Formats: sequence, C-alpha cells, structure tokens
Amino acid sequence: MRWIFLGPPGAGKGTQAARLAQRAGVPQIATGDMFRAAVREGTPLGLQAKRYMDAGQLVPDDVTLGLVRERLSQPDCRAGFLLDGFPRTVAQAEGLKDVLAGLGVGLDGVLYFDVPDAVVVERLSGRRVCPACGATYHVRFDPPRVEGRCDRCGAELVQRPDDREETVRQRLAVYRRQTEPLVNYYREAGLLHTVAADRPIDQVEAEIARITGVGR
Ligand code: AP5
Ligand code: ZN
Repeated sequence: MRWIFLGPPGAGKGTQAARLAQRAGVPQIATGDMFRAAVREGTPLGLQAKRYMDAGQLVPDDVTLGLVRERLSQPDCRAGFLLDGFPRTVAQAEGLKDVLAGLGVGLDGVLYFDVPDAVVVERLSGRRVCPACGATYHVRFDPPRVEGRCDRCGAELVQRPDDREETVRQRLAVYRRQTEPLVNYYREAGLLHTVAADRPIDQVEAEIARITGVGR
C-alpha cells in the first residue's frame, strides 16, 4: 500500500500513521520526524531545518524532496510506504510524482484529515512527546499510564518547541497558504479520500481501516 496522509498540524496524522503502518507492515515516512532526528544528531541538515521549524515555516522544497527521494529508494519501501506530512507544497507533490515514476510505482490514495482549527489548537497545546523514543501522547485525549512518563521507555515527556501558541498560529497560516492547495490537487487527480478527524482516536482509526482496506 502507498498512501499519503495530508492535513493541518495536529490533525492526528502521526498518531494514525503509526498505527496503520504497523498493521500494514510498511514504513511510516514522516518528514517532521526525520528533521527532528537530524536536529537531535546535530547534522548539517538538522542545523538548516531547525531554523525553519522553530519559526513554524516549511523547510525548503529541494532539501525536503532530496531527503524523501533518498528514503523512498531504500529496499524497505519496495512493498509500500505511508507518507506522513509530505508532500506539503505543490512543488513537493510534483517532485514526488517524478520520484514515483522513476521507481515505477503509483499512489493508492491520499487521506485528507479534515478538522477545525479550534480542535488543532486544543490537540497541539496538550501534546506531549517522548524525547527518547518519539512516542506521542495527549494530556487529556491519550494520556500515559504514569503522568509525565513514557509508557514505552519511561523517559520524561516534553512539549515540542513548535507547539507553543504563537508558533502553532504560524504553522496553521503556513498550512492554509502552502499546503491546503494540495487538497484540490489530489481531488482533481482522483486520489483524495476525506476522513472526519475531529472524533476520538479509535473511531478515526476504524474509518481509516475501512477507507484503506487494511483491517484492524
Ligand atoms: P510535522 O512534524 O510534520 O508537524 P505537523 O504536520 O505540523 O503535524 P503534527 O506532528 O503537529 O501533527 P499530527 O497531524 O501528526 O498530529 P498528532 O498525531 O501528533 O512537521 C514539523 C515541522 O517540520 C514543520 O513545521 C516544518 O518546519 C517541517 N516539515 C515537516 N515536513 C515538511 C515538509 N514536507 N516540507 C517542509 N517542511 C516540513 O496529534 C496531535 C495531538 O493530538 C497528539 O497529542 C495526539 O495524542 C492527539 N490526538 C491525535 N488524534 C486525536 C483524536 N482523534 N482525538 C483527540 N486527540 C488526538
Ligand atoms: Zn519513550
């Protein structure tokens, strides 16, 4: 299976992509996670990406596309992949088309997470992440068993630097301007499926299982 998860920041793409990728046995390719890993490791890519991420701006298209091109050429992507948070501009979507044509594969579909801005702000302000293993929680909607501690590895949970309120507003504005045009782009390509993502995590998961045909 080859799917794209598209939608505003905080829509639940990462939460659902982790679940679906595991069920389908394909890699979850999340450009945000890849950039955060590069920042942690202090690589040149990380140093470059950090400036944009902290400001709530997109990392330049050529950098992002180069990263994805390399990742998709790896052997574990041959049987499929789930793109989470990529593409985010029309230029990235066009670049992806060329990469996939070069690999001789096509997309199964694009899943658009439809959710109002007020829900996004509520989800991002309560999000906590594990700096050690990358797991994501929410203080109210998906709390860890022990407050402030990762269920998987026990590390202390933190807030993502770009989840501060001013940066969230900036990310939403950037989404509207640069990423939302992709909804029509993929609708016109006949690939778009919409999921009403302002419902509880398990209900959204069941709906995605139905749309993608990858059962629970
Ligand atoms: P990225 O990491 O991709 O951030 P994002 O798209 O803003 O998405 P989020 O991770 O914020 O949200 P999500 O939809 O995955 O929601 P989640 O599942 O965590 O990108 C970060 C930055 O990297 C960008 O700003 C940019 O600088 C750069 N970047 C990345 N990709 C790029 C690209 N292609 N081009 C250029 N730059 C790029 O859920 C949110 C919270 O809600 C969690 O706490 C979760 O527990 C909770 N939750 C989830 N689902 C539900 C539900 N159904 N009900 C209640 N709570 C829920
Ligand atoms: Zn952890």
